[in-house]
Amino acid sequence: MTSTASEDPISALRTEAVEQLSAADSADALESWRVEFLGRKGKLTGILRNLGSLKPDQRRAAGAAANRLKGELEAAFEEKLTASKRSGASQPADAIDVTLPGRRPRAGGLHPSTQIMREMLDAFNEMGFQTVEGNEVELERYNFDMLNIPADHPARDMQDTIWIDRDRDSADGGILLRTQTSPMQPRIMEQQDPPVRIVSPGKCFRFEATDATHEWQFHQIEGLAVDEGLSFADLKGTLYEFARRIFGADRKVRFRCDFFPFVEPGVDMSIDWDGRWVEILGAGMVHPRVLSNVGYDPEKYTGFAFGVGPERVALLKYGIEDIRHFFSNDLRFLSQF
Ligand code: PHE
Repeated sequence: MTSTASEDPISALRTEAVEQLSAADSADALESWRVEFLGRKGKLTGILRNLGSLKPDQRRAAGAAANRLKGELEAAFEEKLTASKRSGASQPADAIDVTLPGRRPRAGGLHPSTQIMREMLDAFNEMGFQTVEGNEVELERYNFDMLNIPADHPARDMQDTIWIDRDRDSADGGILLRTQTSPMQPRIMEQQDPPVRIVSPGKCFRFEATDATHEWQFHQIEGLAVDEGLSFADLKGTLYEFARRIFGADRKVRFRCDFFPFVEPGVDMSIDWDGRWVEILGAGMVHPRVLSNVGYDPEKYTGFAFGVGPERVALLKYGIEDIRHFFSNDLRFLSQF
């Protein structure tokens, strides 16, 4: 409703402007309103211009009233503009195309180490090994002593160790980040009687200078089987079968003698990589002293153990040239898996 015919054009304009402002429901409508009432050629400017034609005594009162109205309308306009921006009314109705198909959120994936470990664990699980997890922070006793590596044994120097508390006055010795998953051997054997058939995956840590094939943190999967009558043939059969499942039947495998204080005899296993041998695991028959350390009778039971490095396996399987890629958190590497 507009009321133009009035004795008091300023009051009439106020009524008209306020009504139309409350009806303006879009950014476009608000802008048209501003031009119509407050613009340079707008209605209020028209009134101000006409003041000159009034008698001087009327002019002062009308001028003051017109300026007051200007202030009121500007304030009302700003308020409405702010409110409409806040409610989103300033977006055109078609700013969002509701018919567009949804976009798939970018999903993360399993880390390559996790993927290869799951594949390796599957292979061992199918051969009758049960998966158990151990602790990354370990007691010196399990990481070394129980594995036939006493404090003064030179074999300790083979593993550079990250100590949490080295000089603890305790029968369990110090506390460290485990250097291998082998402490799971005595831990499991202490908990149960034979037969034992377990694999235990997890992180290991060594205070080590890094290069293309060495990281200071890496994973291992420990394997342990203890029973009556287990022989070296069982060890070889199990590890050959593992290699066949992971690398295929045609990939060449090599066993060599190796030394680890907690096995006797000890071996390592390498996989052919274009005419080069790359070692992926250490293994051997569980040392009688390790068996008696946990209260097993070494005259009655024998067993074999192995420790295999999943990152090494992945290097060979996928042709990755540097082991440091695994923990450098570079998506260009990680997203390839
Ligand atoms: N724990 C040994 C290492 O880290 C590997 C190993 C495990 C060797 C079990 C023999 C038996 O080098």
